[in-house]
Amino acid sequence: MASLGVNLDHIATVRQARRTVEPDPVTCVLLAELGGADGITVHLREDRRHIQDRDVELLRQTVRSRLNLEMAATPEMEAIALRLRPDMVTLVPEKREEVTTEGGLDVAAQAAALQSLVARLQDAGIGVSLFVDPDRRQLEASARTGARWVELHTGTYAEAAWPQQPLELARLTEASVIARSLGLRVNAGHGLTYQNVEPVAAIDGMEELNIGHTIVARALVVGLEVAVRQMKALVQNPRREPLFGNTTP
Ligand code: PXP
Repeated sequence: MASLGVNLDHIATVRQARRTVEPDPVTCVLLAELGGADGITVHLREDRRHIQDRDVELLRQTVRSRLNLEMAATPEMEAIALRLRPDMVTLVPEKREEVTTEGGLDVAAQAAALQSLVARLQDAGIGVSLFVDPDRRQLEASARTGARWVELHTGTYAEAAWPQQPLELARLTEASVIARSLGLRVNAGHGLTYQNVEPVAAIDGMEELNIGHTIVARALVVGLEVAVRQMKALVQNPRREPLFGNTTP
């Protein structure tokens, strides 16, 4: 059964729209955890467009579940991670001009640098996950870095047109098999919604789904605790019958 990591970046997006103090992701943690969040995820971006350094500092002290810090593999972020010691670091690619994380980390192209960064983080007692596309080459390179986890990028699956989605789901399923055969533990995330999450949650060996935007969007209507509880129910008890039986878009 997969667990649920709730990404609170977009609580901070609303705050930063006015550069004010509310809403505060730190106070939202309690509601997310009451709703069943197994972990809290935030992405401290180089451009600080949503989560701020102060948020991560306070989250480190207040999160009672697990804190997963998404970050780029840069010296600045490494120093922050080593100082604050989140339970997990997920290394992601970052481009200033992107709206959100586009594509997985090209681990194969920077394996040596990542290997030493992964070692330094793991030596400090921090679990390390690499956010990668569901691609054999990237998974093999990920295993060579010594990281224990990968997070499979579900964005292409989430954005696929309806007839393409089963093919993208099959890529994720196969990637989970390959990753586990390489000794990696498997998480997934990006672009998952209340409508498309169940087939991903039902993939064998899936340990944790990191989900943000759709939960924050629903929280505006039903409140954060309820929004998390509704997502947790889908993640923990996904329908097993194929959702793709009706191929008519
Ligand atoms: N996982 C990773 C690595 C991400 O970069 C993001 C977006 O910050 C998410 C999961 C969550 O994506 P979404 O907000 O689309 O649920």
